[in-house]
Amino acid sequence: MERTFLAIKPDGVQRGLVAEIIGRFETKGFTLVGLKFMKVSRELAEKHYDVHRERPFFGSLVEFITSGPVVAMVWEGEGVVASARKIIGATNPLTAEPGTIRGDFGINIGRNLIHGSDALETAQREIALWFKDEELVSWQPHLTPWLQ
Ligand code: TYD
Repeated sequence: MERTFLAIKPDGVQRGLVAEIIGRFETKGFTLVGLKFMKVSRELAEKHYDVHRERPFFGSLVEFITSGPVVAMVWEGEGVVASARKIIGATNPLTAEPGTIRGDFGINIGRNLIHGSDALETAQREIALWFKDEELVSWQPHLTPWLQ
């Protein structure tokens, strides 16, 4: 089953949006398989954002993600990588559609509340970077047959 990596960034935690953000994926019907509340080391931040190393905003990105606790998560479900990106919304919260997390709660591209893997391969890389195998819980919600 497909999995994606999501992280509520320090602004989402500071603004008290943890439950609201987790709720969007839970009520959508995706399955939570990993979750931890943690401070991000500079080493992890630099590895996570490695593709942006040459971009002008790399330094401030690393500063920001290491500035306070984050909620790191793995979610599972059919098509979860692309669907989670839709639920999150466009990178710039000013242009993100209302109804998306960034569209509803954000106004600043550098403070856009949540990270979500942008493709299947990225998701696999990020899950392996942030979680040990034993931190992920494989389980199935008990749905009545007509909901499966
Ligand atoms: P990116 O991977 O392009 O966006 P997304 O988070 O939607 O996958 O960029 C990573 C983060 O870098 C983004 O969430 C916010 C920050 N960023 C800036 O601060 N300025 C920018 O111009 C861009 C493109 C991104």
